[in-house]
Amino acid sequence: MTGMAHSLLPETETASSSSSSSRLSTSVNVYDVTDASAGFQLPGHTKLSFVSAMFDKIAPGYDTMNLLISLGQTSLWRYLCFRTILAQLVQLGCTSKGARVLDVGCGSGISTYALRRQCAPKLRVETTGVDPSPRMLEVARRNDPDGCYELGNAENLASSFGSDSFDAVYSVYTLRNFSDVRLAVRAMTRVLRPGGALVLLDAFPPPKGSFMQLALRFWMNVVVAGIVRVFAFADAKAYRYLASSIEQTRSAEETAEVLRDEGLKDVRVVNYTFGAAAMLVGVKR
Ligand SMILES: C[S@@+](CC[C@H](N)C(=O)[O-])C[C@H]1O[C@@H](n2cnc3c(N)ncnc32)[C@H](O)[C@@H]1O
Repeated sequence: MTGMAHSLLPETETASSSSSSSRLSTSVNVYDVTDASAGFQLPGHTKLSFVSAMFDKIAPGYDTMNLLISLGQTSLWRYLCFRTILAQLVQLGCTSKGARVLDVGCGSGISTYALRRQCAPKLRVETTGVDPSPRMLEVARRNDPDGCYELGNAENLASSFGSDSFDAVYSVYTLRNFSDVRLAVRAMTRVLRPGGALVLLDAFPPPKGSFMQLALRFWMNVVVAGIVRVFAFADAKAYRYLASSIEQTRSAEETAEVLRDEGLKDVRVVNYTFGAAAMLVGVKR
């Protein structure tokens, strides 16, 4: 797996980290030897190996656990977010000719086929999903045989995805797993056509000292930890990483600044469920 994730890296990063990568390729899996709370801070290729191995491990039960630990909120947030993508595609004039859309970090494909289904009454959407976890992609191809799924890294999208080639690009519950969000935003913007929207949906850290921060800690460390103990297919370490990565990541507003810095216009943040999650939208100039 380490080798697989490593082959997705940009050449500059591969070269600059060659000594550690060769150490990794001959050693045990980085996921097994790294603390859950340290996973978020890992540099470039090491983080890609960590998260790919983690998602490989939890792939079979991922959708069920996600639904359980969020009490169905993750599906509601997807639905709300996809309404925005659909409206944006209609506004772009895709109703008659259909739209090409890229789902970055597609995982099990749940967000990929859900978008197609939600758009179907209004327009035909052709989706491509990319993800660095081969097991997640296996689940996606099984769940959605009509979809197109490829191994890929948000920070270094394949050159086969030409510049300006998608009518919309979106990424759902992925940002904390990227080692460099700015690079990922840049790569996703490159493949987006002018006027097209980049749409990001994710969980973000609540303000420090707020009631929401206490509530999230209780939820993750007590309730989710309990649920994970009950289900044999759940990997406790992966859910400790989830809790710690939500606390350590940038806020939604700080992430919106990255979109502005990368040249996107009309950037906006829409909070869901008292800020437990947020959708970020930016339009390519
Ligand atoms: C929490 S899952 C979300 C899956 C899906 N988008 C959903 O809506 O449920 C995060 C996904 O991001 C993927 N991922 C992690 N690092 C990535 C990277 N650098 N580029 C693209 N995807 C990545 C993981 O393999 C995993 O499948």
